[in-house]
Parts: sequence; C-alpha cells; structure tokens
Amino acid sequence: MRGKFITLEGQDGAGKSTNLSVIEQTLLKAGKPVLVTREPGGTQLGEKIRELVLNSDDSQFGDTAELLLIFAARAEHIESVIEPALKNGTWVLCDRFTDATYAYQGGGRGIDQSRIKTLENFVQNGLHPDLTFLLDVPVEVGNQRAGQRSDPDRFEMQENEFKNGVRNCYLNRSKAEPSRFKIIDASEELDIVKQSIEIALKAYLKTT
Ligand code: TMP
Repeated sequence: MRGKFITLEGQDGAGKSTNLSVIEQTLLKAGKPVLVTREPGGTQLGEKIRELVLNSDDSQFGDTAELLLIFAARAEHIESVIEPALKNGTWVLCDRFTDATYAYQGGGRGIDQSRIKTLENFVQNGLHPDLTFLLDVPVEVGNQRAGQRSDPDRFEMQENEFKNGVRNCYLNRSKAEPSRFKIIDASEELDIVKQSIEIALKAYLKTT
C-alpha cells in the first residue's frame, strides 16, 4: 500500500525542529515506516540549492529565480526521494513543502499565487500532502524565538510585513483546506503543543 505524505509547516521560530521528531516518534510507535526529509533540500542537488536560497552573504538574485530554484529542488526531491518512498509503502514526513512556497514566495515576496500554481501543477504531477501540520504563532513570538539564532538566513532577516504575509497566507490556505490542515497553536507551552500534535496525528491514523 502507498505510504502517506505528511508535511510540517510554520513561520520561522514556530518550533518546527522539536515538533518534527514528535510526529516521527508517534508514527514509529504506530508501526509506520517513516522517512524524514526537508525542503528546500533532501537530495544532493536540493541541499546545494538550499545553500544558495538561504545564504544571506552572496545570494543576490530576484524573486522569480528564487521561486524557480525552489521548484528545481522540489522536482529532484519528488522524483528521486518522495515518490519512490511513497510507492514503497514508506510514510514521508517532510519539513516544509509547497505550502511554504505559497506562504514565503507568495505571501512574503508577493509573487502571484497563480504563477506558483502553474509550477506546482507542472512539477508535482498531482502529488499533494495527505496531512499538513501548521504550527501557528504570532510574528512577534516567532521573532523572539528565531531571534536567538546568531546567523539569520535570507527569510529570518525579513521585516515583519513579510512575516505577516507569510503567516496570513498559511492561515488562509489552512482555512481553504480544513481537512488536510491541522492548525496547532504553537505559542503554547511545548508540552501542550506536543500533546495537540499527538492527538491530531492519532486521530488521523485511525482514518487510514
Ligand atoms: P527551515 O527549514 O529551517 O525552516 O528553513 C527553510 C527556509 O526556506 C524558511 O525560511 C522558509 C524558506 N522556504 C521558502 O521560502 N520557500 C519554500 O518553498 C520552502 C520549502 C522554504
């Protein structure tokens, strides 16, 4: 049987890294074979593109080039990692996917959603996440948490207007697809966030 495709999304500073392992552990306990991966990244080419796209020192290029680089990384990731794993019955847990492109390149940079949709259709050939966790925090909370990092990347260093665009886009997408998205209030204490994720994931597992 084909595996399920689960993604984790949220603004910078929402606590993705910690909660990725909560999802992985819950799936493993439920006996699911899991592959954890990330975007941009997940392949040799993807990790090189990630360096280019995130590195704030020498990455001077326009928004369209950024969008295309992200989809180039995604094409390789889908073809060589995600699809083979899903076909093989492995559950794929991906730290960010195309919702992040709508949020960052669309909501943040201001690229028209229809241009992103065109690339999504072209590159993904019908592949969409089965379940998406959205860790939602007010921008100020995300800033406080991410602000503790010494070397902010090209997105972490953006103004609050960009970050509010990202958050609003995520929230709008989750409202448009309520059955795929589980919105988690990530401004709560870590234990409460963890519990909310476990409850939502266990409920999803019962439906599979
Ligand atoms: P992170 O994986 O540590 O959160 O860093 C990835 C960064 O890349 C994050 O700031 C969001 C950004 N990003 C995009 O701008 N568009 C995308 O499609 C993806 C997957 C990530």
